[in-house]
Amino acid sequence: MSTTPWWQASVIYEIYPRSFQDSDGDGVGDLAGILERADYLAWLGVDAVWICPIYPSPMADFGYDVADYTGVDPLFGTMADFDHLVAALHERGIRLILDFVPNHTSEKHPWFQEARASGESPRRDWYLWRDPGPGGGPPNNWVSQAGGSAWTFDEATGQYYYHAFLKEQPDLNWRNPTVRRAMYDALRFWLAKGVGGFRVDVLWHMIKDAGFRDDPLNPSYVEGEPDFRRVRPVHSADQPEVHEIAREMRAVLEEYPGERLLIGEIYLSVERLVAYYGADRDGVHLPFNFNLMWAPWRPAAILALIEAYEAVLPAGCWPTWVLGNHDQARVASRLGRAQARVAMVLLLTLRGTPTLYNGDELGLENVPIPPERARDPFGLNMPGTGQGRDPQRTPIPWDQTATAGFTTGEPWLPLGDGHESRSVEAQKADPESMLALTRALLDLRRRERALSLGDWHTLAVAGDVLAFVRIFEQRRLFVVLNLDAVPKNVRFEESLSGRIELSTDPKRTHDHVGDRLELDGDEAVIIVPR
Ligand code: NOJ
Repeated sequence: MSTTPWWQASVIYEIYPRSFQDSDGDGVGDLAGILERADYLAWLGVDAVWICPIYPSPMADFGYDVADYTGVDPLFGTMADFDHLVAALHERGIRLILDFVPNHTSEKHPWFQEARASGESPRRDWYLWRDPGPGGGPPNNWVSQAGGSAWTFDEATGQYYYHAFLKEQPDLNWRNPTVRRAMYDALRFWLAKGVGGFRVDVLWHMIKDAGFRDDPLNPSYVEGEPDFRRVRPVHSADQPEVHEIAREMRAVLEEYPGERLLIGEIYLSVERLVAYYGADRDGVHLPFNFNLMWAPWRPAAILALIEAYEAVLPAGCWPTWVLGNHDQARVASRLGRAQARVAMVLLLTLRGTPTLYNGDELGLENVPIPPERARDPFGLNMPGTGQGRDPQRTPIPWDQTATAGFTTGEPWLPLGDGHESRSVEAQKADPESMLALTRALLDLRRRERALSLGDWHTLAVAGDVLAFVRIFEQRRLFVVLNLDAVPKNVRFEESLSGRIELSTDPKRTHDHVGDRLELDGDEAVIIVPR
């Protein structure tokens, strides 16, 4: 019997619930909507879904401002809807991963309401309060990720409170053990309901320097860049004590059977990132590795990243890769439509658990948002810096009707021009579609353990072509990707002696390959032994 935990051979699919499927016509997606699409998720072939926050929230940051950690916001439905969804997904062999937002609460959370009521409140120390700095300004120079100072003055009590994100998202004081206990109980509440694990929001922010020292200025900051680039967050994030929290969360998950998965959202270089696995592999199972999203789209740069990551990965730890999420520009907009297909092949053939952002399987692009429809506070706070995240959060087009089968009402964000041809319905009917490619890749990955669990070796990097091998129990699969639009003739030192099992161009499937391969522009292939 295999001892491999389920999540190593899995593909995780991120659902942005506001935009997935609306069931009640209010223009915003909900849990009953996801339930309606459970068959789609099973048909697509993903193993787990991570759902962005569904807790009661004033929605200042669309759910990342939590007012109750053990409830469901009426906008998304009821606890019964949640339970039905867990059960329906389990029936289909799919696990549900919740988004846990422990770094900050909503300002409307009763804890913060109590904390701000008085300097003497027993909850005061649940948050981070400081007296004004010299001259009455903020206590230090820390910058909010959402723009401006990370400190907001509270008139009533004459102190500032800290918020790494919006002022509506005050940071909890994770040095306070009672905060930890309350939050771990929230984890237990959902674990008892059968969730498959958690994606922990901004894990690397959770502990800040005890002395609140100023962050050093960032010498490479250029005027016009987002505010958070002004400083290097040496003291405001990624503190050594954060690993203790990851360890404690992991221990809470391990109180429950079934290998519950702990993922950390961490925007750091691979060298810093790997510390989050924990000194004894007792931290998070998967610290999200986002670095492929910024790597220059050139074989040498991608290879350097893969090799750097594999080199620092501690023994026994499992890699993970991401190409898109609800905070970043759509991959099809960053790389173009044709290379988005190549990128999908890469994401689903690298060694490690991949996370796929909803809509990327359709090749959705950023949707231009007219200013009067802009909703994301990050974009509204930092105009002109490209920080608005609405373009990558637009609704999933399911069919070719005016509201795309997403809603019977007015979608909360526009669907974008040409959504009809991007829809699931249209792409299901087209064997050459991005959806067909993604589904075929997921299917192959499930059938070929070399792709999910196999070792990884570079084969060749020549100009615009990246080639690598995946090996499992003597079975060798070759992945060859042309990162350029110009056709390439590739020669291999050893004969691959196989046939194309999958190509971004389905017409190529079953072609035989020896020591040479003619790759079309923007083509990626997977070759299996003959
Ligand atoms: C990361 C989330 O992905 C993002 O959407 C959110 O705004 C911040 N964390 C703050 O919670």
